[in-house]
Amino acid sequence: MLQRPGFLVVLEGIDGSGKSTQARLLAWKLKKMGWPVVILREPTRGKWGRKIRAKAKVEKALNPQEELELFLRDRQDNVKRSIEPALNQNKIVILDRYYFSTMAYQGARGIEPDFIRRQNEAFAPRPDAVFILHLPAREGLARILHRRQKDILFEQERYLEKVEEIFKRIRGRHIYHLDATQSKEKINEIIFRRVMSLLRKKLSG
Ligand code: ADP
Ligand code: TYD
Repeated sequence: MLQRPGFLVVLEGIDGSGKSTQARLLAWKLKKMGWPVVILREPTRGKWGRKIRAKAKVEKALNPQEELELFLRDRQDNVKRSIEPALNQNKIVILDRYYFSTMAYQGARGIEPDFIRRQNEAFAPRPDAVFILHLPAREGLARILHRRQKDILFEQERYLEKVEEIFKRIRGRHIYHLDATQSKEKINEIIFRRVMSLLRKKLSG
């Protein structure tokens, strides 16, 4: 359907900002129109992703550098095994977290976000569109606390405030900042319109 390799849409934001919800809503609309779509997420369910989750349950199990290392390994696997193959099959890949999360989360632990970005852009395909969903850390936590007390290490409010500050500063081509306190439907409409317009441009270019 697409003339040139695939289309990569990335959803970013703090925990509870609505990324998974928007991934599902966008995929549903695109599928209904007949586009080939796949949803992927990071951390993955693979070897490195499982390691990340196991460590996340133990407070201060990893120093920032070790944490960065694990997310990079997980992403390298994801790029090779899932992202590149899907793009090469001309699919629309909707990715729930990518290296902007590493910039923000590992950045909030003291590693320079631009350094993290350069490390990632050396191997990770550049997205065609990145949507960063913004809301106050407290609201994000309130949305998810009932379901995820277990992940307390990653979800402390002050840490997420720092993460959100870094997300706000991320700039670049096709990076869009959205107010995540709007309704799910409104956010979906904004994302869908932008994706359709970029898709059309990519197809005609
Ligand atoms: P994330 O993937 O970013 O952690 P989710 O999509 O899982 O976030 O959403 C977290 C919770 O917030 C879910 O219960 C979801 O239904 C709810 N939610 C998602 N988007 C909105 C929104 N725009 N307004 C209010 N609640 C929302
Ligand atoms: P999350 O999306 O919450 O996955 P799940 O719901 O399956 O547990 O991701 C887990 C945590 O990992 C989340 O708090 C954000 C964090 N994270 C990083 O710190 N760096 C990264 O590069 C990525 C992708 C995620």
